[in-house]
Amino acid sequence: MSKPIIEAKDLRFSYPAAEGVTPVVLDGVSLSIEEGTFVAILGHNGSGKSTLAKHFNAILLPAGGKVYVSGMDTADEGKLLDIRRTVGMVFQNPDNQIVANVVEEDVAFAPENLGVPPEEIRRRVDDALKAVNMYEFREHAPHLLSGGQKQRIAIAGVIAMQPRCIVLDEPTAMLDPIGRADVIRTIKTLNRERGVSVVLITHHMDEAAQADRLVVMAKGKVISDGTPKEVFSQVERLREVGLTVPQTTQLLWELRQAGLKVPLDALSDEECALALQKLLTGETTHEV
Ligand SMILES: Nc1ncnc2c1ncn2[C@@H]1O[C@H](COP(=O)(O)OP(=O)(O)OP(=O)(O)O)[C@@H](O)[C@H]1O
Ligand SMILES: [Mg+2]
Repeated sequence: MSKPIIEAKDLRFSYPAAEGVTPVVLDGVSLSIEEGTFVAILGHNGSGKSTLAKHFNAILLPAGGKVYVSGMDTADEGKLLDIRRTVGMVFQNPDNQIVANVVEEDVAFAPENLGVPPEEIRRRVDDALKAVNMYEFREHAPHLLSGGQKQRIAIAGVIAMQPRCIVLDEPTAMLDPIGRADVIRTIKTLNRERGVSVVLITHHMDEAAQADRLVVMAKGKVISDGTPKEVFSQVERLREVGLTVPQTTQLLWELRQAGLKVPLDALSDEECALALQKLLTGETTHEV
């Protein structure tokens, strides 16, 4: 098996407290993310998702345990630049991530800082803008674009650094439904067509359902980890930590509570409809 792109081993972290008690924010997180996968992280407010994400490119360093990026210890200062080149971060607010007045200059900013030669930068910027489907906007002013377009420019800025992994912390939280769909489509394309590993932190069930793997956090711990079908089938466990499940799972769960024999892992609308059709046409029976 290939080396994981990100590996956390018994990771512990607390923010320095103003006085007295320091609440534990990450309480022994162990997680291994295989190269090329699309992993979603779900969890209630304050469960430690953003704190975990910041450990993935050495913005924060572990208080206990270890984080490795492509085998590099994030606590090794000499590896900082390599780590930041390997894992790119995208945050919630696109306005805070845009630095230039012209789209293509913005995308060129990070590779310029890395000392990439000008002709290589030109090539990377064009490629990154095409990857997020914003090439035709290259000479536009970013502040005149929609939220979703700005977020795709921010993603292009990260792509231009050619990272092997992108960590996105609620990149769609401030977007309208169209912008949200565009950003998720962009992320999926980068993963499927370019093999970029993706870690997506989100509060949206429908986004999490599209990942290969879903990790659920609560109170600084990983409480569930599996395919979206496996994780969402654990309705009671998710409810205990204040999370809801997709509407399809909720409906099937309630039918099961009423004694009807339907599967819990029919996650997509189509699968759910098919399960209901089977139920109605009598292909499945009441549980005795
Ligand atoms: N800079 C900070 N200083 C002190 N405490 C912090 C800091 N950032 C976060 N915390 C605390 O750490 C805990 C975890 O926060 P974190 O931002 O990682 O959670 P989250 O899962 O990303 O939440 P959300 O869904 O709201 O984004 C919370 O209790 C939060 O108040
Ligand atoms: Mg957060």
